[in-house]
Amino acid sequence: MSEETGSDPERRDFAGRVVIVTGGARGQGEAESRLFAARGAAVIIADVLAEEGRALAEALQAEGRAARFVYLDVSDPKSWEGAVALARDWKGRIDVLVNNAGIINRSTVANTGLEAWERVMKVNLTGAFLGIQSVAPVMAETGGGAIVNISSNSGFSGHYDPAYTASKWGLRGLTRSAAMEFAGNSIRVNAVCPGLVVTGLNASSPHLKPMIGMTPMQRSGTPEEIAELVAFLASDAAGFITGEDFVIDGGFTAGAAYRRVATETGIF
Ligand SMILES: NC(=O)c1ccc[n+]([C@@H]2O[C@H](COP(=O)([O-])OP(=O)(O)OC[C@H]3O[C@@H](n4cnc5c(N)ncnc54)[C@H](O)[C@@H]3O)[C@@H](O)[C@H]2O)c1
Repeated sequence: MSEETGSDPERRDFAGRVVIVTGGARGQGEAESRLFAARGAAVIIADVLAEEGRALAEALQAEGRAARFVYLDVSDPKSWEGAVALARDWKGRIDVLVNNAGIINRSTVANTGLEAWERVMKVNLTGAFLGIQSVAPVMAETGGGAIVNISSNSGFSGHYDPAYTASKWGLRGLTRSAAMEFAGNSIRVNAVCPGLVVTGLNASSPHLKPMIGMTPMQRSGTPEEIAELVAFLASDAAGFITGEDFVIDGGFTAGAAYRRVATETGIF
């Protein structure tokens, strides 16, 4: 295949590339860490979950992959200095940053205290901001890279967790601003907006059943399906894509509400 088509499988390969996945110890971040490692990347699993993160790095090493764990609280600028230092000492470069770490609050406007609101913003939104600010200059030193911010399909609608929703809408704005700013450094910045994926974040939530029921594809997504999209956007195959957000939710955002109307009125 020619250079221009972008369809050469090598363009999805990460050999020689260094990838940081925040919140990489479990859930979608774990699937992303595993996929990047399988495609040849040196992966830095960055998380507050030290035991799980270390165990994952060791498991990947045992499979012959290149992986390290670093303790990273994404909301703490000092913590980012440590993660960047590890990448520099280990491989001298950073090619991909996945801002995946996230928490939920699951409380209404009326019931959310200021501290809870600020905690969600600090991890979900400020964490990605600090990540981009810390990592983009390092990427620029070696000719560019790709950043993928994990937003949500809640970043397109009003969700009953307002702090989470606002942080995920905010990530879409941050994505576009950063894409504009760093295009000149050959750094692409995109957002992935998953629908329901059953992980430690929501496994015990009562909303799983109704959400699956309303999802046109009638199921939740898997962490591996999300990881595939993240890896594509981080790869050279997505070389002309920047500043965009990609919903991956089995059709929920596309029209779950009208599908329900059509089902209830017998149209479908
Ligand atoms: N699960 C879903 O249905 C769903 C849907 C849309 C978007 N998302 C988003 O996907 C991302 C991954 O979530 P998940 O479903 O894998 O959940 P998860 O809870 O399994 O994983 C989140 C990870 O982030 C880490 N983390 C939390 N706070 C951190 C901090 N301050 N610093 C560093 N790491 C921290 C956790 O330790 C954990 O490993 C999140 O941003 C989440 O908002 C999830």
